[in-house]
Amino acid sequence: MLVLGIESSCDETAAAVVDASRPIEKRILSNVVFSQWDAVRKYGGVVPEVAARAHVEKIDPVTVQALAEAGVSVADLDGIAATTGPGLIGGVIVGSSYAKALALGAQKPFLSINHLEGHALTPRLVDDVPFPYLLLLVSGGHCQTLLVRGVGDYQRIGTTIDDAIGEAFDKTAKMMGLEMPGGPAVERLAARGDDWAVALPVPFKGRPGTDFSFSGLKTAVRRAVESDVSHRPEDVAASFQRVAFESLIDRTSRAVEAADAPLSALVVAGGVAANQVLSAKLQALGQERGLKVVVPPLSLCTDNGAMIAWAGAERLRLGQPEYWHAQLAAAPRPRWPLDPDAPKSSGAGAAKA
Ligand code: KG4
Ligand code: ZN
Repeated sequence: MLVLGIESSCDETAAAVVDASRPIEKRILSNVVFSQWDAVRKYGGVVPEVAARAHVEKIDPVTVQALAEAGVSVADLDGIAATTGPGLIGGVIVGSSYAKALALGAQKPFLSINHLEGHALTPRLVDDVPFPYLLLLVSGGHCQTLLVRGVGDYQRIGTTIDDAIGEAFDKTAKMMGLEMPGGPAVERLAARGDDWAVALPVPFKGRPGTDFSFSGLKTAVRRAVESDVSHRPEDVAASFQRVAFESLIDRTSRAVEAADAPLSALVVAGGVAANQVLSAKLQALGQERGLKVVVPPLSLCTDNGAMIAWAGAERLRLGQPEYWHAQLAAAPRPRWPLDPDAPKSSGAGAAKA
C-alpha cells in the first residue's frame, strides 16, 4: 500500500512515500524535507507570507524528488495524503491544494490529515505499538498529553495553559543570543553547564492536574539573564533545561495515572523529542511505571512528510471509500484540535504544530 504524504503547515516543505505493506524497517521509501530555517533566520522568526511563498516554490520539486527517490510514479500510488491543518494557513493551502489537484488528476483517493494526528501515529510507523497508548506531544506550538485509543480516536489528558515547551526553548535561546531553532542550541550549550547553578522555579511541580505551563519559567530565565549576577550562559541553559524537563516529566507521570487505560506504551513526538536528555528522562519514567517508551528517530520527530503519508495509510487501511472521496472537500484549517471535546484551554489546537 503506497501512500504519498505532503506536509507544509509550518516552515518545512516536505513530501514522502511510505509503503505500509512492508516490514517496519523498510516502510519509508523516501522522506524529503526542505527547511526554511535560512529564510527564517534572516527575518528573526517565521513570517507567514514568506513561508507561504517558499512553499509555493518548493512543493513541486520536493514532491517530484520524493517520488523519484522512492522509484514510483503517481500512477503507482494507492492514496495521496496532505496536512489540511492546523498550521499557518498559507502553507496549509499550498500543500493541500497541490495534493488535491494531484489526486484528482490521477483519480486517486485524497486523505485530509490533521498534522497532530501525523505526530500521534508516527510511533506505529517505526515500532509495533498497539492502541491504546499515551502520547506526549512536545513541539514549538504544542505541549500536550493525549490518550491515543485508535485512528481518529484521541482524548486530550493535559495541555499547556500558555507557552509550548519548544517555544520556551526557542525564547530562551533568543534571550541568550543563540542560533535558531533554539532547542538544539540550548541542548548543546546545556551539556557543558551546571544544572543547579541558577535557581529557577519548576513550573506546576507537585500541583494536581495534568496541565503544563512555561511562561513563568521564561520570565525567570529572562531575569537570570538580565540580572547583575553574571551567570555563565552554559549554566543558564543547563538549569533551564533541567527545570523545564522536571516539570514535563512530573506532568507526564500524572497523565499516565489519569489516562485510566491499559497503556501499551508511552510515546513521544514533536521537535523537542529530539532532545537526548529528555529521551533519557522518559526512559527512566517508563521503567518506573513498567511502560515501554518509544522515541521515534530524529528525522521523524520533527515535521516531515512520512508521518502524513503514514497517517494516510492508517486511514486508507480502514477502508472507507466514501470517506476518501469526501476528503477532497476538506477545507484547510488554521486551528483543528485532535480532541474537539476537550475542555477549552489556551493551548488547544493552537495554530502552530
Ligand atoms: O515539531 P517541530 O519540528 O515543529 C513545530 O513546532 O512546528 O518542533 C520544533 C520545535 C522548536 O521549538 C525547536 O526548538 C524544538 O522543537 N527542538 C528542540 C530540540 N530540537 C528541536 N527542543 C529541545 N531540544 C532539542 N534538541
Ligand atoms: Zn509538528
